[in-house]
Amino acid sequence: MLEAIRRRRSIRKYAKEEVPEEDLREILLAAMYAPSAWGAKPWHFVVVTKPELKEKLSRATPYAAHAAHAPVVIVLVADMSLARRWVEDLSIAAAHIMLQAAELGYGTCFVQIRESENQGRDAEEYVRTLLGIPANYNVECMITLGKPAEKKEPHAEGYMEERVHLNRW
Ligand SMILES: Cc1cc2nc3c(=O)[nH]c(=O)nc-3n(C[C@H](O)[C@H](O)[C@H](O)COP(=O)(O)O)c2cc1C
Repeated sequence: MLEAIRRRRSIRKYAKEEVPEEDLREILLAAMYAPSAWGAKPWHFVVVTKPELKEKLSRATPYAAHAAHAPVVIVLVADMSLARRWVEDLSIAAAHIMLQAAELGYGTCFVQIRESENQGRDAEEYVRTLLGIPANYNVECMITLGKPAEKKEPHAEGYMEERVHLNRW
């Protein structure tokens, strides 16, 4: 587990290679096993592979350019009729996606959509309209996914002693 966690780095350059459905399902299954408040499992995943849609997603925020070139972009959406802690629920599901993807040799990168904008245009509304997501569903983030075409070293930072407080601050 710790090895997969160390290996997961934000990858923004991808090989052209497609992601087989079997791997994609395994990655999404990992998300579906995430904990969620009251066990609500409020998540939906929009799996985007069409180049023209990925190109448009890459313009959702100023920090999403790599979405245009990733083989897959997974958009994480919350059903607000189920969700009571949707930001936490979807963030944990996102972490499961990134870690299972790392375990399978893929690179990922989290792209913030919630409360983001591009030149005054609301990113969440932009993505909702682009992908036909209904009004009662919120968009948290998207995760770009593909085989890495850039090399990043695994995390090797030391244990942050000063950030750990035993019993009290
Ligand atoms: C909540 C959150 C939002 C992020 N938003 C973006 C983003 O919009 N675009 C991007 O390229 N990276 C984004 N990242 C990735 C971070 O930049 C990255 O995790 C950080 O630089 C540490 O690098 P590492 O992931 O390789 O450990 C985000 C990460 C998190 C956790």
